[in-house]
Amino acid sequence: MSIEIKSEKEIAVMRQAGRIVAEVLRILTDHLKPGMKTKELDIIAIRELKRLGAESSFKGYRDYPATVCVSVNDEIVHGIPGDRVMKNGDIVALDFGAIYKGFQGDAAVTVPVGEASPEAMRLIEATRGSLESGIAAARAGAKLGDVCAAIQNYAESRGYSVVREYTGHGIGRKMHEDPQIPNSTEPPYGLKPGTGPLLKKGMTLALEPMLNVGDWHTRVADDRWTVLTADGSLSAHFEHTIAINNAEPEVLTREVYV
Ligand code: MF3
Ligand code: CO
Repeated sequence: MSIEIKSEKEIAVMRQAGRIVAEVLRILTDHLKPGMKTKELDIIAIRELKRLGAESSFKGYRDYPATVCVSVNDEIVHGIPGDRVMKNGDIVALDFGAIYKGFQGDAAVTVPVGEASPEAMRLIEATRGSLESGIAAARAGAKLGDVCAAIQNYAESRGYSVVREYTGHGIGRKMHEDPQIPNSTEPPYGLKPGTGPLLKKGMTLALEPMLNVGDWHTRVADDRWTVLTADGSLSAHFEHTIAINNAEPEVLTREVYV
């Protein structure tokens, strides 16, 4: 396994790709409302990508048929946009990737449709916090397992389980590069703190915890893409593309307010 180190120039392009991803996710969440079909979000994403001069990371990737993943309630990730109507109180994970000048950005957010229950909002905030705690641990000199432990500990300290079979990943010219980034420390998927590859300035990583109200087991729907919680409990997903620095990592897909 070899983890590529990006130059400042390459990271500058990834910053642009990341901003496009953040902007499109912002537009999608702004449009989201009860009564909308999930495929309407895909149409908006296609339009905005074109406007911004970028291409989809997802469409055609292993034959994935859409530009955005829309995962509702007990769907964890990889929901295919379609005729499902989103209703008030649902929570929706929007996962989106863009290619700009040869480099990829990848990010996800989970948001309520209309107004969701306090329990659902608490899950969303814990998932956001789990990602932020992973980001904070992703410093040059740390081991990848320190990031995995930070993500899992934050999730479990709030009473949630963290999905184990799906992971974050290195990212660059390809959406999925080395290393795999587990969201837990448990074998066979996880990495214990103090173990795994050493993080170095110039590594670009996509961290993406998925938290469940119930246990961490998953199943895949008949469409062979949509991943759901095995027990039918609610799930949330957040993702950012980051660049490792000597101090705090830079979040390349963070929204820039101007
Ligand atoms: N963020 C997800 C990932 O990194 C999205 C991939 S969806 C796919 O794996 F359709 F492109 F596979
Ligand atoms: Co990803």
